[in-house]
Amino acid sequence: MASPRGEFSSRLGFIMAAAGSAVGLGNIWGFPTQAASNGGAAFLLVYLILAFTLAYPVLMAELIIGRHAHANAVNALRLISPNRVTRRIGTATGITGFIVASFILSFYAIVAGWMLAHCVAAVSELFRFNGLAEWLTEFSFARNLGFMLIFMALTVGIISEGVQQGIERWSSRLMPMLLISLVLLVLYVFTLEGAMDGLRVYLLPDFERALAPDLILNALGAAFFSLSLGVGTMLIYGSYISDRENLPVVGGLVTLVDICIAVLAGFLVLPAMYVALHNGVEIFTATGELISEDTLIFNVLPRLFDTMGLAGVVVSLLFFFLMSIAALTSSISMLEVPVAYTIEEHGVGRKRAVVVIGTLIAIASTVILLNFEALFGLVVAATTRYSQPLLGFVFCVYVGWIWHRDQLLQEVRKGSDRVEHGLFWKIWPGYVRVVCPVIILLIFAQSLLG
Ligand code: TRP
Repeated sequence: MASPRGEFSSRLGFIMAAAGSAVGLGNIWGFPTQAASNGGAAFLLVYLILAFTLAYPVLMAELIIGRHAHANAVNALRLISPNRVTRRIGTATGITGFIVASFILSFYAIVAGWMLAHCVAAVSELFRFNGLAEWLTEFSFARNLGFMLIFMALTVGIISEGVQQGIERWSSRLMPMLLISLVLLVLYVFTLEGAMDGLRVYLLPDFERALAPDLILNALGAAFFSLSLGVGTMLIYGSYISDRENLPVVGGLVTLVDICIAVLAGFLVLPAMYVALHNGVEIFTATGELISEDTLIFNVLPRLFDTMGLAGVVVSLLFFFLMSIAALTSSISMLEVPVAYTIEEHGVGRKRAVVVIGTLIAIASTVILLNFEALFGLVVAATTRYSQPLLGFVFCVYVGWIWHRDQLLQEVRKGSDRVEHGLFWKIWPGYVRVVCPVIILLIFAQSLLG
């Protein structure tokens, strides 16, 4: 390790860790569910446009600030601020980010707990503990609480080990496996009756729907959630990258991997929905709305595995295991946000910071579980649909207007002297300065007025 803060040991290590943070429940639970309830292809289209034109530039803003400052978001925004007022706003933004990250983790741990529970259910089915398997797959407070706590304990355990050993090691092993199993599952689902209906919904856009203000705002939130933006996660990861890396390329790869996996998951979940529908499972209400958005994939995917007979149990085990790991490589990147801040700001030891913050977040999750109907959707919307894009807006303003231009350009130049001849150099600085903030504001304005 080059610096005492820890640094990723290799370029691949960083890409794996950042992609590990990006790829998670957002791709396989969030995006397909949103696509299913927002008109399929229309959502896919808007999501793709926003991911490349807004999320990628904001990701670059976070990575570049992070690598420049080699610090958490609060200190980083302070460092690039020229005066007292901007320093204050920077501090407030960083602190808001770490609070939002904590709340995101509080609902994330619940959904990840469901993944774990389904994984254990498959194991118990293999050993013919059918009663147990049933309990594990049914929605109950006890199950939800138990598995949320297990998931939080795993997250806390990994984060207390520190950057390189914890984050990097886990990410680089299991991500490729997840990708392969997704592809195989997609190929399988295509062979089933009803799948083509799902494919049609997913691929033939209704362009009028694509312009609905709510759909656009949802897609924006989904893209920011999926790339872990706004709260300082990527900023912190950027702070662990060495100066030799070519950031625009690395960030582009991470974006590409993340989007591909989300789109791929859509190819699995939407057809699987219609296969289930074909097999008599109720998915829509009489008015055509989804019956249960949050638990949609937990209704639909197990039905899909059932069609495989005995092999289905093994596939289910593998799938939910990989999903649990994908959720872990994301959750550790969330917990690292408040932890890095507390360590660097207040001089608390890593272990202590991790345990205290982890406990607080687990308490928040418990409160959500106790009031599931009222709180779950609310916390998801408040954090992902509103807070993340708005915080992303502030990052754009800091990069575009507040940070000294020469320093910014110098930071972009690091790691590649040829960058000045490239497109990124010519377009990005002006683009994050003007286009990104304006579009984000327009989307919010349109949704408020519409
Ligand atoms: N992007 C991850 C996913 O798709 C979730 C995630 C990790 C995240 N870190 C984050 C979301 C920080 C928001 C903020 O599952």
